[in-house]
Amino acid sequence: MLIAQTLKWHFKLSAHNPTGLQFQVEDGGSLAGSIEVPGDKSMSHRSVMFGSMANGITEVSGFLEGEDALHTLQAFEQMGVKIDQLGAGNLVIHGQGIKGLHAPKEPIYHGNAGTGMRLLAGVLAGLGLPAILTGDESLSGRPMGRIVDPLKLMGANITTADNGTPPLNLHGGKQLKAIEYTTPMASAQVKSCILLAGLHAQGHTVVHEPDITRDHTERMLRGFGVDVQTNGLTASIEGGQQLKATNLTVPGDISSAAFFLVGAAMIPGSVLTINNVGLNPSRRGVVDILRLMGANIEENNPRESGGELVADLKVTGTQLKGIDVPKELVSLAIDEFPALFVAAASAQGTTVVTGAEELRVKETDRIQVMADGLRLLGVDITDTPDGARIVGGAINGGTVDSCGDHRTAMSFAMAALIAKEPITVLDCDNVATSFPGFVSLASGAGLRVSESRPSG
Ligand code: S3P
Repeated sequence: MLIAQTLKWHFKLSAHNPTGLQFQVEDGGSLAGSIEVPGDKSMSHRSVMFGSMANGITEVSGFLEGEDALHTLQAFEQMGVKIDQLGAGNLVIHGQGIKGLHAPKEPIYHGNAGTGMRLLAGVLAGLGLPAILTGDESLSGRPMGRIVDPLKLMGANITTADNGTPPLNLHGGKQLKAIEYTTPMASAQVKSCILLAGLHAQGHTVVHEPDITRDHTERMLRGFGVDVQTNGLTASIEGGQQLKATNLTVPGDISSAAFFLVGAAMIPGSVLTINNVGLNPSRRGVVDILRLMGANIEENNPRESGGELVADLKVTGTQLKGIDVPKELVSLAIDEFPALFVAAASAQGTTVVTGAEELRVKETDRIQVMADGLRLLGVDITDTPDGARIVGGAINGGTVDSCGDHRTAMSFAMAALIAKEPITVLDCDNVATSFPGFVSLASGAGLRVSESRPSG
């Protein structure tokens, strides 16, 4: 399965999108000033889902108006929920309760968003609502067996394309039964899908995980008055509970802050503050990994906001050093490895990443895309099935292909800070899925980046 998936992305690598947005980034420079990154993507998806399922009006601030979360918003509108978009990340969700959701008349399109598709599949399966869930080329190649298998064990009737990929066809009509399930991989999307299906199932649903994954579903459901129990690597939920509307503040996304953390941390002379960053313990791995590499990151003004820890991160640049990334930090930084690979390329010595095989089934095979791009820039990098070995040193310029992955695109853009010549990054449209305004925020902070779209 893993090999087949890897080959698939190899195939995609050769099919570069000639009309995709491109970033041109001048070499050198440093990052400075005070910035705020857009709202957390994981929490934005869930805010719309839970607000829509709740009884009463939920007001959300800090919602990420990026394509992924907006597809989730549209999905719930298709299911009959009224959502007022007031601008600047403010939403008013007119929840009508779980029973108020109705089956969508048309297929639901999730764009690039695995979180949207996998979590919604759990909600719909639990409610017994029929629906077809589709996505873009990347999402259409991602594995869905990981959620379909447990949902089928609960009694759901779901079909996928032959190779276990989208579209997902939920046939509906079944009352699900609770299961006790151990997920084969560390995945918050799988855990969340099962818990959301369990919310409407008969009995007590229990999920055991091999490693810690982000716990936004558990925390946020509690905010909506749902009793979710957690104990170490186990989460559980009793079926038949109702959600009560609440107000929510979404903090800045640590996964978006990560590009700036890396960019500033690896360049002596940089002094950058990133305000209002969510520091959920299950998401903060990037800060702890960078610190092990010698980064100077202060957590200022720590506070709680919307049930999440938040702080202002002040980064002072320095020469980083290579490390063996502790395995227990991998699942806490899973989306930040493209940026961390760039940090490793800037470091003195060798960085070894292991236990990160999940990177191969993200929006792209992120190990392959980062290894190919960094190698092209002259970095000594060896990719392995579950990670990479990266020897830090000088970086050349050149043209690298993000392969349509938002996180690889922004990571390669930051690599220009340590390059000897300019870097062009291809196929950057999907940066809009998680980080609208990246180019202007980054250039305001000192990255000499511009964007253009080739004609033809
Ligand atoms: C997410 C979980 C992670 C992460 C993704 C968002 C979520 O995926 O990579 O960007 O919001 O639950 P996996 O569950 O596949 O690890």
